[in-house]
Amino acid sequence: MLLQSETTYIDSDMISGEEIHLAVSSLAKSFDGRGVILDDVSFSIKKGDAVALIGGNGSGKSTLLRCCLRLVEPDRGEISLLGMPVTSLRRSPLRALRSRVGLIFQRHNLVPRLTVLSNVIHGSMNSGWGFRRWRQGFAPAEIREQAIGCLEKVGLPHLANSRADQLSGGESQRVAIARALMQKPDFIMADEPVASLDPKVGREVMDLFVNLIKTENITFLFVSHDLEHALTYSNRLMAMKDGVLHLNGETKDYQTADLHEIYG
Ligand SMILES: Nc1ncnc2c1ncn2[C@@H]1O[C@H](COP(=O)(O)OP(=O)(O)OP(=O)(O)O)[C@@H](O)[C@H]1O
Ligand SMILES: [Mg+2]
Repeated sequence: MLLQSETTYIDSDMISGEEIHLAVSSLAKSFDGRGVILDDVSFSIKKGDAVALIGGNGSGKSTLLRCCLRLVEPDRGEISLLGMPVTSLRRSPLRALRSRVGLIFQRHNLVPRLTVLSNVIHGSMNSGWGFRRWRQGFAPAEIREQAIGCLEKVGLPHLANSRADQLSGGESQRVAIARALMQKPDFIMADEPVASLDPKVGREVMDLFVNLIKTENITFLFVSHDLEHALTYSNRLMAMKDGVLHLNGETKDYQTADLHEIYG
């Protein structure tokens, strides 16, 4: 991999003709008083991959995701995301790169007193006109139409004018996904996106993710404690144990029993 200046795309981020969307090399991170959290982590994710990241509590999964966007500053290592050298980017290109990545958390972080539509419109705030887009009434018509389109993709256009704090957990997470789609993301990183949902709704939301990443051509990295989800919704599987990448392979090569040792 050749890392070039921070404003150029890295055309050499290809392995046997396939585009690499995330390449992490020798990544290390410690927090004061907590010891080593990430220890020499290296992997790559191809465009269009759906990658499950599993591992016990505190094994470093969320820290790894955060480092990939430099929401947490790595101590060492190289990260290339969507062809950009994350570790050396200055603030403005880093912000532009982050806007191409949809981030979904266990808690959806919607603004409770605003409408669903306003919340979805917030997904486009990175691209400018932030203040005007805060409430749907101020947003340009084409942005409102885009937001309705994103709500249609998650099956909730009828809730556009509902207040976000009146939604169920599953509906809220779908709205959070619609908000991420407003960014027209090339990559979605989801940190335990269905951990607060009941099993049926959790499966529905995971199905939605997988359909969207296919139809919208998005690369997907999700953290899960649900081994069935990890095996069902990914083509690649990675497992962290004590800050080390313990498993990294094709999902079809693993079964539930293989994964239990991760938690030992
Ligand atoms: N900002 C921080 N400051 C200090 N320690 C931190 C910080 N963020 C994470 N840690 C520590 O790093 C370790 C790994 O945390 P991380 O959140 O990455 O684990 P995780 O694998 O996502 O766990 P979980 O499955 O519980 O979400 C934990 O011991 C945690 O306390
Ligand atoms: Mg976590």
